[in-house]
Amino acid sequence: MVMVDGTRSALVSPELAPTAVVRGVSYAYGDGVNRKTVLANVDLVLEPGRFVVLTGHSGAGKTTLLTLIGAIRSLQNGHIDVLGIRLTTGAERQSRDRRRKIGFIFQDHNLFGAISVFRTLWLATELGNMPLSRSEAMEKALGILTRLNMAEHLHAFPGELSTGQKQRVAVARALMNDPKLILGDEPTASLDHASSMLVVNLIREHVLRNGASALIVTHDERIVEFADHIIRLEDGQMVQHK
Ligand SMILES: Nc1ncnc2c1ncn2[C@@H]1O[C@H](COP(=O)(O)OP(=O)(O)OP(=O)(O)O)[C@@H](O)[C@H]1O
Ligand SMILES: [Mg+2]
Repeated sequence: MVMVDGTRSALVSPELAPTAVVRGVSYAYGDGVNRKTVLANVDLVLEPGRFVVLTGHSGAGKTTLLTLIGAIRSLQNGHIDVLGIRLTTGAERQSRDRRRKIGFIFQDHNLFGAISVFRTLWLATELGNMPLSRSEAMEKALGILTRLNMAEHLHAFPGELSTGQKQRVAVARALMNDPKLILGDEPTASLDHASSMLVVNLIREHVLRNGASALIVTHDERIVEFADHIIRLEDGQMVQHK
């Protein structure tokens, strides 16, 4: 259950701790007359096993919120708990710990041109503190890539891939560490219907099987249909739709 108003739903069993809790988070870019508040006192709870869609118009602050939860951007106010680790302002070490536990799919893929698909996926496990041998990483990478119809590109470099193929590599990378939280920023923006369904099904299955949560930014109606909950950022605040 997603709660945007701080009340606890009777449907949530008490033994299942939330994956992420966002409390009183505000964020502004710029200073002085250029200061622009993007998030205003946002509260959000992500429960295990849920696939949550985050919508909102361009510039609403969706990426900003995702990067705060993912500890890629420093907090200015409030706090965010992910898997029991509390992040407050200026908590750099906790940020590093946090990043290891999250599968982040960036809006622009963020792949390095000189690193092959396999190496990218293997590296994700090393950076995530889940070291695998080459053959273990290969097996895992192939398992995920196969689900995304990308197995034949295991040894390709990003420059040899289409935008949609790069996007699927970014999805695979986010899943390599068995994350308990997946943060996806438009993960199907450049995909056709069939590939989008592969991505959505894989993420949903991961969430259900691992008791993980997914918070996925998308305008893609095909994904919205599969959401357990839909929340919308409007004027810096959360509005729950479903
Ligand atoms: N580094 C930055 N410096 C100044 N302003 C920024 C910066 N990053 C984002 N903004 C502004 O903050 C607002 C929210 O940006 P954000 O990227 O979070 O929006 P978004 O909801 O992800 O939009 P989109 O759907 O286009 O990806 C926008 O008005 C944007 O111009
Ligand atoms: Mg964005």
